Amino acid sequence: MIEERGDRMFSFVYKEGEVNVYKNLCNGQWVESEKKQRIKIYSPVDDSLIGEIQAQTKNDVDYAIECAKEAQKSWAFMPIRDRADIIHKAARIMEKYIEEIANILVKEIAKSKSSAISEVKRTIDFMHFTAETAKRMTGETIYGDAFPGFDKTKISIVDRVPLGVILCISPFNYPVNLSVSKVAPALVGGNSVIFKPPTQGSISAMYLGQIFDEAGIPPGVLNIITGKGSEIGDYLITHPGIDMINFTGSTEVGQHIAKEAGMIPLLLELGGKDAAIVLEDCDLDETAQNIVKGAFNYSGQRCTAVKRVLVMEEIADELVAKMVAEVKKLKVGKPEEDADITPLISDKAADFVQELIDDAINKGAKLLIGNKREGRYIWPTVFDYVTEDMRLAWEEPFGPVLPVMRVKSIEEAIDISNKSEYGLQGCVFTKNIDKAFAIAQKLEVGTVQINNKTERGPDHFPFLGVKASGLGTQGIRYSIEAMTRSKAIVINLDNDYK
Ligand code: NAP
Ligand code: G3H
Repeated sequence: MIEERGDRMFSFVYKEGEVNVYKNLCNGQWVESEKKQRIKIYSPVDDSLIGEIQAQTKNDVDYAIECAKEAQKSWAFMPIRDRADIIHKAARIMEKYIEEIANILVKEIAKSKSSAISEVKRTIDFMHFTAETAKRMTGETIYGDAFPGFDKTKISIVDRVPLGVILCISPFNYPVNLSVSKVAPALVGGNSVIFKPPTQGSISAMYLGQIFDEAGIPPGVLNIITGKGSEIGDYLITHPGIDMINFTGSTEVGQHIAKEAGMIPLLLELGGKDAAIVLEDCDLDETAQNIVKGAFNYSGQRCTAVKRVLVMEEIADELVAKMVAEVKKLKVGKPEEDADITPLISDKAADFVQELIDDAINKGAKLLIGNKREGRYIWPTVFDYVTEDMRLAWEEPFGPVLPVMRVKSIEEAIDISNKSEYGLQGCVFTKNIDKAFAIAQKLEVGTVQINNKTERGPDHFPFLGVKASGLGTQGIRYSIEAMTRSKAIVINLDNDYK
C-alpha cells in the first residue's frame, strides 16, 4: 500500500493481512533501492509475509552519507532547544502509533503484546528525557593557574561538539528502543545519522523515519539504510564518511566492526552471560521469582537475561524447587495472546539453543524442566548440576534455557563468573549488604544488581559491558557524551590588565 503525501511517497501504516512495501527516509524523501531490490520479511510467529523492505546498494549508501554530511553542518548550529523540541515532538507523535508499532513488533519479532507496548512507551520516555538532558548539559571553564608556571590569564573554555555522521546499528530484540537509544542522543548532540535497523525488526524500526519526518527533522539529518548486514554491513562500517559507529548486537559482529572500522570512535553493546549469585541468607521466594523473570522474559532473548545461576550448595535444592515452580507458571504460546514464551526469532536461533540443551544432556546435566520443542517454540528449560565442561556454562543461548551451577563458596562463584569471556552484568541475592558489596566489587562486569535480576533500565543509568560485552558507556547522558567530543578554545588575556 503506497500513499501519496505532498510530493512524498510513503507506505508505513501496517494492516494485518496486507503486504506493504516500505521505503526509506533519505534526505527528506521516501526512496527505494537503486536497483529496486527488496527483502521479504516473514513473521516468526506464523511464517506469514508481513512486508517488503529495500535491499539498498553501495550507491544508495554513498548518497545517504553524502546527504548526511551536508545536512549535519546546519543541524549542528541549530539552537539546542530547537533540536530538543524536535525530539520532544517525535516522542509525542510516537504516542499516536503505540498500538500500531506494538502490533508490528508482535508479528515481526514475536514479542508479547504487553512487552511490545512497554518497549514503545519506554522509548517515548527515553526521547523526552534525552531532550531535557541535552538542554541541561554544560561545558566547563578551566583556569591555567592550577598548573605550575601559569596564571589566570590563560583560560580554557571547554565545549561539547558533535562528531559528524553517526552510523547507528540496532539488533532484532529491541528494534524500536535500541534504535532510539542511539538515534535520539546522536541527533540532539548535533550529529546527523545513518540508521541501519536489523533486517528482522526493520519494519518496526522504520517507523522512526515516519515519526521524525512528521516532527520536522530537516532533510538529510536522519537517513535510513536497510539491507542485510552480511551484504551491506561492511561497506557501511568502513565508509570514510562515517565518523562514529554506535552498535548493539552480537559479540561476533561487534568484534568484526572493531577490527574493520579503523580510527573512529566506537560505542558497542554486545552479548552477555550474566550470572545470578545466590547466597544462603537470601529471600528464596523473591530470588526464584527474580531469576525466572530475568531468564525467561521475551524467551531469554535479552542481552541482560540471567544466563546462569551460581548457587551455594546448601540452599540449591530449595532454590531449584522454587524456580521450577515459577517456570511452571510461564505460558508458552503466541505473542498476540501475551504468552511469556513465544517463538524464537528464527529456526537457526532455535537450532542453536537446542544444540546447547543436547550438549548439557550428553554431558550429564540434570534436566529439571523443559527440553520440549516445536519448531521455533522451545519450552522454558532449566538444568541443575551444570559443570564447567558444558557449553551452557559459557555460551550465550539467547533463548529460554537456564543452567544452574552449584558452588561451595563465594570465591568459587566469583571465579566462575569472572572466567566468562563476557562482562555485561551480574546480580547477587543476599540479605547481607556487606557481602553483596564485596562481591560486587570483584565481579568483572559493567553493572551489578543487588537483590534484583539483571536489567538495563532505568535508561538514564550508565549501561556498559566490559571484556567481550562491549566498549564505551550508554545511558542517556553518557550516550550524548559519547556521541560528542570536547572542544577547547583557549583565551589568553593580556597580562597588562592583571
Ligand atoms: P547481530 O546478528 O549481531 O545483528 C545486529 C545488527 O548488526 C543487525 O542490524 C545486523 O543486520 C547488523 N549486522 C550484521 N552484520 C553486520 C556487519 N558486517 N556490519 C554491520 N552490521 C552488521 O545481533 P542480533 O542477533 O540482532 O542480536 C542479538 C545479539 O545482540 C545477542 O548477542 C545479544 O546479547 C546482543 N545484544 C546486546 C545488547 C547490549 O546492550 N549489550 C542489547 C541487545 C542485544 P541484519 O539484521 O541485517 O543481519
Ligand atoms: O537486550 C538487551 C537490552 O538492552 C536489555 O534491556 O534489560 O531492559 O530488557 P532490558
